[in-house]
Amino acid sequence: MLQLKKKEFDLFRELVYNRLGISLSDQKVSMMQSRLSKLLTKKRLNSYMELYDYFVHHSGSAVDYELEDAITTNVTSFFREKEQWVYFKEYIKNTLLKKEKKKLRIWSSASSSGEEPYSIAIFLHENIPNIGTWDIKILATDISEEILKKAMLGVYSEKSMEGLSHNIIQKYFTLHKNGTSKEFTVNDSIKKMITFRKFNLVYGNYGMFSNLIDIIFCRNVMIYFDKAVQTQINIHLTSLLQSGGLMFIGHSESIPPSVKNLKLVKSSIYMKQ
Ligand SMILES: C[S@@+](CC[C@H](N)C(=O)[O-])C[C@H]1O[C@@H](n2cnc3c(N)ncnc32)[C@H](O)[C@@H]1O
Repeated sequence: MLQLKKKEFDLFRELVYNRLGISLSDQKVSMMQSRLSKLLTKKRLNSYMELYDYFVHHSGSAVDYELEDAITTNVTSFFREKEQWVYFKEYIKNTLLKKEKKKLRIWSSASSSGEEPYSIAIFLHENIPNIGTWDIKILATDISEEILKKAMLGVYSEKSMEGLSHNIIQKYFTLHKNGTSKEFTVNDSIKKMITFRKFNLVYGNYGMFSNLIDIIFCRNVMIYFDKAVQTQINIHLTSLLQSGGLMFIGHSESIPPSVKNLKLVKSSIYMKQ
């Protein structure tokens, strides 16, 4: 593998920060070397500088995606962070079901290939009696158009379904046999609760939200940003939350103390004050 020199790493680091708002620490050199070297092979380029020039001279979402895809990971799964769903269930029972208005707005803000928003929709179906009488909308956004396309399709391999009970699969998915492999498509009753859109948490227009949100999932994405950007995003997200609303973050993440009006109610779960 071609060695990524410090000077080259610094150039890519600056490019990634300016284009995507993603911050790369010094510890990311070997990760960047391995990801970028794969791109070199794929693009049949000979040096990291040629690859750098390619990114500098090409722009647009497809190119940004190549860069983003090399740096971030879309790893996700259904009902990730098990303990959070235990709290969510209690919150539905003790708070949401007691609401006078049967209206709910939820935002999955780095939704990746869709497992997170689909888990939310399924969970609501399982825990809200007479859900048909509710006005529920789930917004699912991600920086990557490619991953959003996959999310919208809602088709998952047998491997992705590991951990989902037989009962849940039967109720909310349709099985297709594709040769010897099996694929599972999310049913329309779940799909129709979700709107997928592209949104960059760093550079996005938070002013486009005209209504406050009851629950925000912003999980396993803050790790890509430096403290200043994390603070700025969290301030935006908090300002969009209803008071008494919840914010779910990843278990290895935290919200900087300078972000006001959020109270930690459970590990990785905050409530707007
Ligand atoms: C590791 S996945 C997390 C998915 C899901 N939230 C979960 O916890 O399972 C991180 C996602 O963040 C997205 N992402 C990275 N930078 C972003 C940004 N600036 N704005 C919005 N999404 C971003 C990536 O495309 C990726 O799909």
